[in-house]
Amino acid sequence: MSAKPVSQRETAPSKAAAAKTATPTSGKSSAKSSATGSSDFVADIGAIRARARKHIEDGAVTASYAADREAVIRLLNDALATEIVCVLRYKRHYFMASGLMADAIKAEFLEHANEEQAHADLIAERIVQLGGEPDLNPDALSRRAHAEYVEGSDLRDMVKEDLIAERIAIDSYRAIIDFVGDKDTTTKRMMEHILAQEEEHADELADMLDGWTGR
Ligand SMILES: [Fe+2]
Ligand SMILES: [Fe+2]
Repeated sequence: MSAKPVSQRETAPSKAAAAKTATPTSGKSSAKSSATGSSDFVADIGAIRARARKHIEDGAVTASYAADREAVIRLLNDALATEIVCVLRYKRHYFMASGLMADAIKAEFLEHANEEQAHADLIAERIVQLGGEPDLNPDALSRRAHAEYVEGSDLRDMVKEDLIAERIAIDSYRAIIDFVGDKDTTTKRMMEHILAQEEEHADELADMLDGWTGR
């Protein structure tokens, strides 16, 4: 157990020494040209450090946050409502699925329900990071959700309704990504990740409908 730290201690100074001896041989002109840039950067770091000490109650939201925070939180809350409604619809379909093809499709419904719940958690977490509050009031969830809660009359109808809901989520999430743009890359990346999974869901449901026989 003690051998590893000792060897690390031995190699660390020798690496530093190699870097030290290498410096004089590296081009003088390139070192000079980068000096101005690096001193500007040091000045910027000073300003960044000073700004970071102000408004620390804002947590992850700093002065350089360029998006309309209130609008982003509102859009994320609508996306959160969409995800929760999708969880409930997939859960309903999971429990109600019956018939010859039900077993394979049930598993798919449950997997989607779990993934929509994971999306909801990601979105809620981001809302809090942005200084907002996740709105999980059940009275308003279905009103604010983009996708609808449709129970479906039979297995095929359930799959069809789920596909429609995924297509609505895909379009509305793409609009959110366009709105956020590069002003909030963390929210954008998260929504792109979620969008990619909604596209997978839609693709799987479309495949099911494609090969459908019977009701
Ligand atoms: Fe989702
Ligand atoms: Fe989905």
